[in-house]
Amino acid sequence: CGIVGYIGERAALPFLVDGLKRLEYRGYDSAGIATVGGSGLELVRAKGKLHNLEQKLEGAYRTTATIGIGHTRWATHGKPEEHNAHPHTDASGRLAVIQNGIIENYSELRTALKERGCLFKSETDTEVIPHLIACHLDGRTLLEAVLAAVRELKGAYAIAVLSADFPDEMIVVRQQAPLVVGYGDGENYFASDVPAIVSHTTRVLTLQDGECARITRTGVEVYDFTGHKLRRSPRTLNWNPSLVEKRGFRHFMLKEIHEQPGVIRDSLEDRIGDRGSPVRLGLPTDLFAGLERIYIIACGTSWHASLVGKYLIESLSGLPTEVNYASEFRYNLPPLSDRILVIGVTQSGETADTIEALKVAHQQGVRILGITNRPESSLGQKYEHIIDTRAGLEIGVAATKTFTSQLIAFYLLALQLAHLRDTQTPERIHEILTGLQQLPTHIENILDTQERYITELAREFDATRDFIFVGRGLNYPIALEGALKLKEISYIHAEGYPAGEMKHGPIALLDAAVPVVAIAVPGKVYEKVLSNAQEAKARDARLIGVAPLDDPAAVETFDQILPVPVVDELLSPILTVVPLQLLAYHIAARRGLDVDQPRNLAKSVTVE
Ligand code: G6P
Repeated sequence: CGIVGYIGERAALPFLVDGLKRLEYRGYDSAGIATVGGSGLELVRAKGKLHNLEQKLEGAYRTTATIGIGHTRWATHGKPEEHNAHPHTDASGRLAVIQNGIIENYSELRTALKERGCLFKSETDTEVIPHLIACHLDGRTLLEAVLAAVRELKGAYAIAVLSADFPDEMIVVRQQAPLVVGYGDGENYFASDVPAIVSHTTRVLTLQDGECARITRTGVEVYDFTGHKLRRSPRTLNWNPSLVEKRGFRHFMLKEIHEQPGVIRDSLEDRIGDRGSPVRLGLPTDLFAGLERIYIIACGTSWHASLVGKYLIESLSGLPTEVNYASEFRYNLPPLSDRILVIGVTQSGETADTIEALKVAHQQGVRILGITNRPESSLGQKYEHIIDTRAGLEIGVAATKTFTSQLIAFYLLALQLAHLRDTQTPERIHEILTGLQQLPTHIENILDTQERYITELAREFDATRDFIFVGRGLNYPIALEGALKLKEISYIHAEGYPAGEMKHGPIALLDAAVPVVAIAVPGKVYEKVLSNAQEAKARDARLIGVAPLDDPAAVETFDQILPVPVVDELLSPILTVVPLQLLAYHIAARRGLDVDQPRNLAKSVTVE
């Protein structure tokens, strides 16, 4: 979910709507706003995407209120219906609450509140909060009542509270869900994430878990949950607001695919050194001294990048490395010690599964390294050692540039480990680093030459219902990623398999209606993948190869080729993923789907 709030001298509504638009990538099942003006608390909510709310606002409601809160929802408890949309109010209708997260003990609280006579209008966990605050108000300040209520809540959440009886303040609370406060001139803001406020201010304070803020027109006071005032001051972000604009592209996803060459150049800039110190990630060598094993934890696309990372670290440095889903790792910890490095990989830096898994591992005394493009996120703020992938903000829900930038981070890390452990010659390390620097130009070529062709090719899949992607070795994760991209944004059923496993089951699915995309690039397993592709062809499957254009074996095997230049096999994943991103994009765009905000997904999943 995304939350946003404004207090100042101007009308709050335009700020709220614009802020919600910028946060829509966090959830878009329903949306709502509450403001406090001359006629008390006013509430407008709508099911579905934000434009439904906007339409409602256009019609009946043009408030000039100068204080308000807004919410865009990704449903957890209760279907995406209007009555479940936030804000939720207490019985008096004078107090409104928005929440991102999950209140774990809401069921007990709800029963207790019902016994006290409270009537509930939704199925959400959030609705207990305004009732609870109202029960505690009784002569107290809003801050005191909110804190008393918060002390009864269990779970992970970010909350904002607005009351018609306290028209000059908003209270926000953070407990394991992101929340930033923005400082303006004569006005202040809050939001789940910086994009909502970056066009108004770059002076922000990231609240920590267990903190709450009282925000007025002229100031921000921060407290802990017992009500002790804390000293906190904002920092100034070095952000470029153009990241939140489409700059002529039809969708953010397409723009972000095209940003990849620049992002890779940025992420390599000043990180390549000389023979004595070939990689400069700014990490202390004792982070890696005496290491026995690495665990990488991540979700979704970041998990795919981590699978490539494992391959790179093991093959270049010989250090045993395992990749785990964060949601699994957290509750099934392997034996851990201070000779283990746990790497958390997350583009948002906020994914609850990843953050929590890192926390429990940290408690076991492991070393922690984070990889993210959001150093200002919860991950970045919590841990000392971070590789900033420098991809900046990504808006399209389907990750593209953040994925390739995570891969670059893994190349650099694996090479640093290889250097420290003396497992590769300086010449080999230099060769790979030089190869990495050439990748942006190769990607530019792929984008220049293939965009049109893939747009055309996409037409042929208007009726396709299933797709299979295969690859081997370090291109197996790319097959998984190609399938994930397609299913996320086109809703076509797609699966990725290791090419050699096709014959052990998935081949039963094949017929002329199921296209197979095979990643086949020269290297250790090239001929093997080509034979696996032939096996699919013998079952009438249509074969698309991500392969070199002028290799006769590839030309003979595939019905269509999405060409990639031949590079060192180790570097190939960064190139092979690009045509797959374009294929997924153009198939979905042709179907007229909402590429940047696919149904049921959110960019930043801050619930477990
Ligand atoms: C969500 C997004 C995915 C992303 C995953 C992990 O599901 O929709 O695109 O890969 O979360 O996110 P993270 O921020 O941890 O990389």
